[in-house]
This record gives sequence, structure tokens and C-alpha cells, in this order.
Amino acid sequence: MAVQMPLGGALLMHRLVRICTSRQGHQRYRELHPLLKIATRTWEVRTFSAGPKNGSENEDEAGSSASSSPVPSLTPRQGLLSRRRPLSPLERISRLLPQDSLSPEVLQLRQENQEEPEVDTRGGEDPALKQDVSDSVVQPKGSDTQQNGSSCLSATLPGESLLVFGELLVAEYRKKGWVEFRKMFKLQEGMRLHSSWGTIGHDEIAGQPSGRFLRTHLGMAILVRRASLEDYVLYMKRGPAIAYPKDASSMLMMMDITEGDIVLESGSGSGAMSLFVSRAVGSKGKVLSVEVREDHHKTAVCNYNRWRASWRLQRGEEWPDNVCFHNADLRTASPLLAGWGFHSVALDLINPHLVLPTVIPHLHPGAVCAVYLANITQVIDLLEGLRCLALPLLCERIIEVPVRDWLVAPARQKNGRFCTRKDPIVDQHQRVENAPSDDDQEMTVSDHPPFGSVPYIARPHPEQVSHTAFLVKLRKYTQ
Ligand SMILES: C[S@@+](CC[C@H](N)C(=O)[O-])C[C@H]1O[C@@H](n2cnc3c(N)ncnc32)[C@H](O)[C@@H]1O
Repeated sequence: MAVQMPLGGALLMHRLVRICTSRQGHQRYRELHPLLKIATRTWEVRTFSAGPKNGSENEDEAGSSASSSPVPSLTPRQGLLSRRRPLSPLERISRLLPQDSLSPEVLQLRQENQEEPEVDTRGGEDPALKQDVSDSVVQPKGSDTQQNGSSCLSATLPGESLLVFGELLVAEYRKKGWVEFRKMFKLQEGMRLHSSWGTIGHDEIAGQPSGRFLRTHLGMAILVRRASLEDYVLYMKRGPAIAYPKDASSMLMMMDITEGDIVLESGSGSGAMSLFVSRAVGSKGKVLSVEVREDHHKTAVCNYNRWRASWRLQRGEEWPDNVCFHNADLRTASPLLAGWGFHSVALDLINPHLVLPTVIPHLHPGAVCAVYLANITQVIDLLEGLRCLALPLLCERIIEVPVRDWLVAPARQKNGRFCTRKDPIVDQHQRVENAPSDDDQEMTVSDHPPFGSVPYIARPHPEQVSHTAFLVKLRKYTQ
């Protein structure tokens, strides 16, 4: 029996089949070519990006900014239970595909269908959306999202500032206690934040407090907040690998850095360590950052300036301009170091034993040179170099800084409701008449079960940062 299909529907189906086929082809090609894993990652990262409001890539989403209102502008019923009209089979198929892979025609059709607001008229539940919000937003019992939002907006705390154009922000989407996606972006007039969960206009983010949940045009809750220095160094444009924040902070401790210190840091690389040291020594201190490669030197300076510009907008005052970047080889930098005396030195470069003869004469007696090395064989080379050079340096410690992320969250059923703890059954005869059966106990009746009644999942996060570096603490001594 022939199936009748209107011309528009047939075209859409043709387009969808083409997309499905080409994506499957890409997938197989990637599996056959492991080197293309990098390309796969790039595609994932592209799922959350900032783009111009009227850019050709996003023309279909540009007109939908009105629906990307902040969470507090929806009532709990609208926010938690929102649902649109039933979907057609074609719409259902298109929804299974990643947004990035949809053609402009499909996006436009989808857009037209979304013109009506996502408000539940049936009073039914959408567990997925409900969980999406309740996972992310912890609200006081009995409060309503709108009330919370307006009280946040009206009461700006002393010293608090609202988000302004030019600041560096982070957008996060969380589900079931996991950050599914995190992206750093610069807030710019007329731009839109794009993601697989919908888009948000930058103009709607400006003027909001940091740390606010905003709704995409698809109704998903995205946390938008200011980028911390840790976020910044992890997401900024990189030249070489950075000193990871967990290691950088341990190095600062090793070096016993204090406000006002004068510190030598090399190589500048991407500028991550330079920023951590800059913050530690403050406006009274000074950092000399030396980098042999001109391209890395420029990247470090650019990242430093970008962070300072965002800081100025946020705080209304300058980040202390306390880093002197120099494009030079530290092995032959004696003329550059002449006249300097350092409270501490941080080295993150290949073959550190080659630069020590130049550096150590300028390190205060009793002070520390902290060295960042990726491989244990490099640590051995360093110690062997020290043995041969007979420098006045004591190797006090060699450490690795393990950080283990954990996943701890209340256990939930698939429908979004909390699970409940089960009482131990000591003896069948001791069971109280009318006690709830096991089945009754599997999920809560209330959305706010009492304290202590909900079991938690609590285990190491399946995605862990593995080894990053060994840190070697060298102390200068005098005879
Ligand atoms: C791993 S990167 C440093 C990353 C940096 N700590 C950060 O957090 O962004 C190492 C850098 O040391 C630089 N380098 C290597 N040998 C050097 C030397 N003799 N003098 C100065 N820089 C050097 C390299 O060019 C490279 O940019």
C-alpha cells in the first residue's frame, strides 16, 4: 500500500535520510582511522559555542531569543512541567539527531513549531526536564523559582557586580550531578551562546548576576557564571601544555610565595603559571617570566592581557601589572638576570638542569626552586645533572599531586523522583502491620523527602584526570 506524504514532508524525510547516512559514514570512517579521534572531539566541543546573532550558521535560531528567558521568569509549573503539543513522526526523528547536524530547512521547520511557548497545558510531567532543573537548582523548600529569582535580582550584595559585555564567562550544563558540558566564552553584544541544549542571547546574559541559571530557547537550564582563574587557564588558547592548576597551587606552596615576592618563572609557555604567580605576589610583587620561543612568548602575553581585561571589567580596577615577559633563552640570560634577586623560582621547561647554573646565583639563600616535570626519567636527569654540577641545591621532595573527583548525589528513579532508604528486615514476625511493602519504598511520594531518608550514590567519578606532573622541590643552601 502506497503511503501518501505531502511534498514538504517528503523533502524533509529525504534530507534527514541524507544526514543520517552521512553521519553513519563519518562514524565508520573515524573508527577505521584512529587519528581522526581529534576531529571527533572538535565536533563535540563545537556543540556549545558563541556565535553572532545573525550569522549564517545560526540564522534559524536568531529570531528565538525571546524564549531564552532566565529560569526565575518561569513559574515552577511552567519551568518544571513544560511540554509542547504532541510531535509528528518526522519531528520525532529529527529530534533524535544532534542539533549541529540538522540542515537549515529542518531547523527552520523546528523553529516554526517552537513559536508557541513551552508551557504545559495538560498538567502532565516531563521527568527528564524536571530532573534537568532539579539536578541543577537547589531551592529552599516551599520557595518558588520566580520568587528566588526576583529576590536575587533586587538584592545586590555589597561588592557584587552584574555581568557586563567583555567579561569572560563559563556556561555549564549539568545532569545527574555531572557536568555534561562546560564552555568559556566572552560576553559580546549581539552574539548568541549556542549549544546542543539550545541557544541564549548574550544580551540577555548581560546585567544578570554571576551564577545564574538561564533558559535556552529549548527550555534547558544552563548555569552562567564568571570564569575563575582555574577555568581561564584550562580553557584559554594554548600554545604548549600548561602547568595544571592542582600542580601550580602546590608549587606556590612549595615556594612559600608571599605577597610582595620577586619571582622568576620559566618558560612562560601559555602563561598559566605566570598568572598564578602574578596573583600570589600581588601588586607589591614582581614576576620575571622568560620564554625562549617567540610564538609561545606572544601567546603567554596575550593570555595574560586577556585575563587582565576581563578582570578590569568585573572589578572596576586593574589586575596588578606585575609580570615582565621576556623572549629569551634562560640558559644564556645572565645579562637579563643581572641585578635581580629572587625569593623563589618556578621552572617548567625541558632539561631544567641546563638553566640552573644561570638561575641559582640569583636565588636567595635558603629559598626554593620548584621544578615541574612530566616524566620520572626527567626527574632522574635533573638529579643526575645536580650531582654533576655540584650546585648548592638540596632536593627536599619529589611529589605527585593526585586529585580524585567523586560523584556524590541523591539517588533518583528514572522518572526523577528520589529513592528512599530501605529499613532492614530483622524478622518477618516483627514487621509492623501496615508497614509499607518494598515496592512502596522504592520511591518517595513527596518531592521533598525528610532529612536522612534518601540514599546517595557516592563513588569516584568515572572520568579522572590522570598523571600530570612530578614536582621537585630544590632548596638553595650555603656552606
Ligand atoms: C610546558 S611549557 C611551560 C608552560 C607554562 N608553565 C604554563 O603554565 O603555561 C615549557 C616552555 O618552556 C620553554 N622553554 C624551553 N626551554 C627554555 C629555555 N631554555 N629558556 C626559556 N624557555 C624555555 C618552551 O619553549 C615552552 O614554551
